Amino acid sequence: MARLVVVSNRLPLGDNPSGGLVVALEDALRASGGLWVGFSGEPVETPGDALEFHPGARFERASFDLSATDFDAYYLGYSNSVLWPLCHGRADLMRIQPEHLDGYRRVNARIAELLVPHLQPDDRIWVQDYQLFPLASELRRRGVTAPIGHFLHIPFPGPADCAALPNPAELFDWLSQYDLLGFQARRDLSNLTESARQLSRIEPLEGDRIRLCGRDLRAGVFPIGIDTAAFIDEARSAPDEDRMRSLTGAQMMIGVDRLDYSKGIPQRFRAFQLLLEQNPDLHEKISFLQIAPPTRESVEAYRDIREETEHLAGRINGQFATVNWTPIRFIHRPIPRNVLAGLYRQARIGLVTPLADGMNLVAKEYVAAQDVSDPGVLILSRFAGAAETMTEALIINPHDPTELAEAMARAMQMTANERRRRHAVLLRDVSEHDVGWWSAEYLATLG
Ligand code: ADP
Ligand code: G6P
Repeated sequence: MARLVVVSNRLPLGDNPSGGLVVALEDALRASGGLWVGFSGEPVETPGDALEFHPGARFERASFDLSATDFDAYYLGYSNSVLWPLCHGRADLMRIQPEHLDGYRRVNARIAELLVPHLQPDDRIWVQDYQLFPLASELRRRGVTAPIGHFLHIPFPGPADCAALPNPAELFDWLSQYDLLGFQARRDLSNLTESARQLSRIEPLEGDRIRLCGRDLRAGVFPIGIDTAAFIDEARSAPDEDRMRSLTGAQMMIGVDRLDYSKGIPQRFRAFQLLLEQNPDLHEKISFLQIAPPTRESVEAYRDIREETEHLAGRINGQFATVNWTPIRFIHRPIPRNVLAGLYRQARIGLVTPLADGMNLVAKEYVAAQDVSDPGVLILSRFAGAAETMTEALIINPHDPTELAEAMARAMQMTANERRRRHAVLLRDVSEHDVGWWSAEYLATLG
């Protein structure tokens, strides 16, 4: 069978990865074997001129180094200060600099250069996410004819957002060199079609086939999942459950997100404040645990969101805390996955309120972790890709604090029967469409 070669910017070489991409790919590669190529993690003074291989039991990893200049331009710059805000509806946070786009192109060319000598004739190459859009065109330029697929983990921008790019047409030139473009949700595929149409870059063909910039390829929706069975086991055998329970006392509401401005964390803090203002009977009955590890802290917008979040948590605690009760606990670091699974299981409410999100795996982890006889309630933003299928969650508009506070109150009062009914439907979806299903569907379509 053809070997699978996965390329992503992020390559987990240590423990406790956070971010949906590595969690999903780790699961997918464990199942299929193959090679996973990615960035070694920290910029270095003198980058090596070859991939460094790290053998593993199930699959091999190979890492590349980046200089500080390349890291700043390609990762902090074009990837996370142009493409990320653009794809998450925050064009106002873009910082466009020509040298960052140059660095983005240069690093993609270098990754292709490092990868080509290690490719085998019947490999299938699966490129991940927005950091690597130009990789297929760089591989093709070096004579690679193998099937190359791309999967976008984040939302695809619509025409109005694409128009904010320095050179929108180039995005479609890059994408046209793949054989299969995969998206999280229907909304992303229709944004691709609409945005490319406005630039006269696309002709629809039969079924899932499109002609993009004159080249024929396929495009489809493949909603990503988690390793549901493993996560259920993880939650059932979570450590120290009694100790954690005695720490909480009140019913717990949990949020777990990288501290990213797309996740709507200040909005949920404000809604919680409103809930407490309007429902004095809930004081000391509900406590909100927000776990938000740091991410991309050298980018200004991330430092701002940290400040805003800490400030809000402090203010709300100052307003409502009692000697026995802290309304918001805010943990700003990664947590081992088995501990996380146990915390989800104990939480009466799972709060997933992004303003924009490709899928959101936390929503799926929360559902998988519940005790089926007494499950909690998932509150889910309509702007997460997950909302397209997880319709038995309480679906809310995260911009509306009243609606969100009402959903929190409703979740606190929901009968066990209704919780079990909703949870059963959600769990079926999360179990049937797990990460194994996702990668199998995608790879079968790539061929
Ligand atoms: P994103 O990919 O934007 O970060 P997702 O919700 O899809 O969002 O994926 C986040 C992943 O990172 C989940 O698997 C989640 O469990 C993990 N994660 C988030 N916060 C932490 C944390 N503090 N410790 C460990 N894992 C975390
Ligand atoms: C999201 C992106 C991934 C990224 C992850 C963590 O899941 O889709 O591509 O790896 O966030 O972000 P980081 O910048 O730390 O890799």
